[in-house]
Amino acid sequence: DYKMSKQLNLSKGGANHQKPNGKEDVLTTAQGAPVSDNQNWLSAGPRGPQLLEDHIAREKIFHFDHERIPERVVHARGYGVHGEFELKDPIPEFTHAAVLAGEKGKKTPIFARFSTVAGNKGSPDLARDVRGFAVKFYTDQGNWDLVGNNIPVFFIQDAIKFPDLIHSVKPAPDRGFPQAQSAHDNFWDFVSLTPESMHMVMWQMSDRAIPRSFRFMEGFGVHTFRLINADGKASFVKFHWKPKQGLQSVIWNEALKINGADPDFHRRDMWDAIDAGDYPQWDLGVQIFDEEFAENFEFDVLDATKLIPEEQVPVRIIGTMTLNNNVDNFFAETEQVAFCTQNIVPGMDFTEDPLLQGRNFSYLDTQLKRLGGPNFTHIPINAPKCPVHNFQQDGHMAMSNPKGRANYEPNSWGEGTDEDRGPRACPDTGFTSHEASVGSPKIRERSETFADHYSQARQFYISQTEIEQIHMANALTFELSKVVRMDIRKRMIGHLLHIDEGLAQDVCDGIGLAELPDKVPAAREPITDLAESPALSILKN
Ligand code: HEM
Repeated sequence: DYKMSKQLNLSKGGANHQKPNGKEDVLTTAQGAPVSDNQNWLSAGPRGPQLLEDHIAREKIFHFDHERIPERVVHARGYGVHGEFELKDPIPEFTHAAVLAGEKGKKTPIFARFSTVAGNKGSPDLARDVRGFAVKFYTDQGNWDLVGNNIPVFFIQDAIKFPDLIHSVKPAPDRGFPQAQSAHDNFWDFVSLTPESMHMVMWQMSDRAIPRSFRFMEGFGVHTFRLINADGKASFVKFHWKPKQGLQSVIWNEALKINGADPDFHRRDMWDAIDAGDYPQWDLGVQIFDEEFAENFEFDVLDATKLIPEEQVPVRIIGTMTLNNNVDNFFAETEQVAFCTQNIVPGMDFTEDPLLQGRNFSYLDTQLKRLGGPNFTHIPINAPKCPVHNFQQDGHMAMSNPKGRANYEPNSWGEGTDEDRGPRACPDTGFTSHEASVGSPKIRERSETFADHYSQARQFYISQTEIEQIHMANALTFELSKVVRMDIRKRMIGHLLHIDEGLAQDVCDGIGLAELPDKVPAAREPITDLAESPALSILKN
């Protein structure tokens, strides 16, 4: 290109080897040497063997051989797009994070990636599955990643169970199937032995798990996070994305046909919409509450298997995300983007949610391997768009190292001179952890306040319309009829009995069980009289 030809002093006079006809770029090796023939390997005579000497052919094959990197261990199948977030209703009373508390109208560039969870990179888009909804905000104070799903709750309360949950939905180790659609025996075995998953299972059996496209899904941060204001006061927050396009799903029959006809249906839909200038938008909403609410709420706000009803803590819309730019290169951007729940900025903090704490470790750990070393923040899609200064150095693929002599702290270089002595921590504007009230002995058991696994599952089921309830009964009947082991089928019905007896009976009849099995013993009896519970009496219909 122009820069390179200038460097090589080829642009003036004589042949311009880098642009011979003034139009197309000349093909070069990775070292920049022009290539004369890209079709024929150097050989010993026209019918002779190919020569190892051909450094151009070898370089080309070598690079091709190394094109693959490990796919994500979960959420491998995904689609990324660029956009921006516009702050419409700043909340400085709750946070000093500039992205949420800056001027009204402040815009922050973002990159969003939507995904399925269980399938591999080449799996079909319309699987009955949870959808990932991950957004990276390139804020003035560093990258903030909101790594959520299209379902507001999760299967498990503790990250230590995650490898087992995922193994149960991925292909079985002996036969290498099933995948993506539904994992049948192993999945149902695991969830039927894990009562805390019942609320999420209800959502997964609902139409939410087969969205019409990424553009018609809600998104949720799931965990309770903290916001911290300029006075150091903390509030709890849950994040919501509400699609301006509305919420739409397909039915199972349609999902099966679409998967067969066009397994790329969701990614194509997103690309086409943006390409046509029909930019999808989501409002960002927050549910903000304090310690007092948390203490009085019937469920534990640190329990990721529970939501907080919007009627009880209304969602306040504070801004809008617009997706308006397709990627230039799928691998460079969508494949190499690295979201991580631990990427938060000053003015925010984590909570003691045991699932969140585990995630904070897991994402960084997996990305170290997936992206080949500790320098993946140097890849443009992951690099912050604000200044970055630190003493981190070296490692595979280091693109930026500390400048000058000072690569440690404290140092006394540059005192009283202009010499650069490197960056310094700033107590006023830097990230500080909120002092949470931990102070208990370390134990390996979950608090009693996490023990009601059925009430919100029941609330979700009851809040569905009649036709949606039929879809759920059908989904459960279809899924459980694929489960070969009768004891697993019965155990699942034993859970459904806590959720809704009519639903349990329908599924029981649907899968041909002669009689209803016993209820699975509950760690804590669900609330059945909805009128007694403020958090449950509010039904969405
Ligand atoms: C990837 C969401 C729980 C480990 C992802 C992605 C999303 C997501 C959206 C895809 C990010 C992308 O598009 O690149 C969630 C939500 C969870 C949850 C909402 C629960 C609230 C967990 C837990 C663990 C975990 C408990 C582990 C302890 C991972 C890993 C990846 C991933 C290893 C792959 C990351 C990569 O290769 O870049 N998750 N997840 N997740 N998740 Fe989770």
